[in-house]
Amino acid sequence: MSIRHCYNVADFRRLAKRRLPAPIFHYLDGGADNEWSLKNNHAAFSKYQLVPEYLKDISRINLEATVLGSKLAAPVILAPTGMSRLFHHEKEPAVARAAEQTGLMYSLSTLGTTSIEDVAAVKPGPKMFQVYIHKDRGLTSEFVNRAKAAGYDALCLTVDSVVGGNRERDRKTGFEMPPRLTLNSLTSFALHPHWTFNLWRNPDFRLANVAHRQDALSKGPISVIEYVDSQYDRTVTWKQATWLIEQWGGPFAIKGLQSPADARRAAAAGASAIMLSNHGGRQLDTTPAPVDCIKPVRDAVGNDLELIVDGGIRRGTDALKALALGADAISFGRPYLYALAAGGQMGVLRYLDLFKAELERGMALLGCTSISELDERHVQ
Ligand code: GLV
Repeated sequence: MSIRHCYNVADFRRLAKRRLPAPIFHYLDGGADNEWSLKNNHAAFSKYQLVPEYLKDISRINLEATVLGSKLAAPVILAPTGMSRLFHHEKEPAVARAAEQTGLMYSLSTLGTTSIEDVAAVKPGPKMFQVYIHKDRGLTSEFVNRAKAAGYDALCLTVDSVVGGNRERDRKTGFEMPPRLTLNSLTSFALHPHWTFNLWRNPDFRLANVAHRQDALSKGPISVIEYVDSQYDRTVTWKQATWLIEQWGGPFAIKGLQSPADARRAAAAGASAIMLSNHGGRQLDTTPAPVDCIKPVRDAVGNDLELIVDGGIRRGTDALKALALGADAISFGRPYLYALAAGGQMGVLRYLDLFKAELERGMALLGCTSISELDERHVQ
């Protein structure tokens, strides 16, 4: 099987599972606790049905939308995800290039394995940098300055990860960063010679944007949860969020909110958008599916904030439901990482092209010619 035979997320996931050593695949695929939120994020979409209107002129479909001040070929944002090097040696630039080729926004994570500047060099179009506030506060100001200098269009603050989620799969597989051959994982690495060969050929697993400022990784391989628990600042409140929004002075998203009250606080703090997200079910388990948060949050903030729905979107039809329910854009992480693992930049490009084609076909079948036309009458 190759990426040419992949037509949907399930196909890319299957191929990723074949290509990746078990600890790496399960780090990508897994969630927290019982993985209820992980499953429910997607399952929740089946509560909604699309309601088409026919006999309309759908000869020209326009997917374009402006989100976070950037004009996009479709209202789709590639969510910030950490450590792409784990999944493919072409790492973040491969994803950023595929996003550029398809006119979509790419988000680079604080925990990326490529620097702010190196991503900007291959992604002249819309891009966002995502920050976690570290105990090393100088790092946050440095992020703001470097992202501005490198031409990032938006900044995003993730707020749902002050402590690490309970990722039991990672404990069972002994997942570590950077990956290390252990007695436990030996068989799995041996069964994936292509990935393991590239481990030796391109061994640069550094967290490119934080490695120079902290010593956690210099002590040797650690789990992601150990990193989060030792480096992130647990004292951060809306005061620091407001400070960061002011420092940035441009389009700003707060990622990880679910409650209408927090959405109002985000609007008061001066954010331009919120990403309704439970971190792909990787942090607090049993939190609501982002798609179910759209209506209550929209009712709370009206049009003061853009709403980006992040979680469980696998098909164009999922995106159409979210947009019809009142979201301004959608975002996903795992799908493009499965595609990255399956085939590097070509894999991601194929996935994004398929997704955009699904969106366009779905719009035509729904009787909608532009994104702004989508509204509650299209969903029940
Ligand atoms: C990082 O953001 C993770 O969810 O592992």
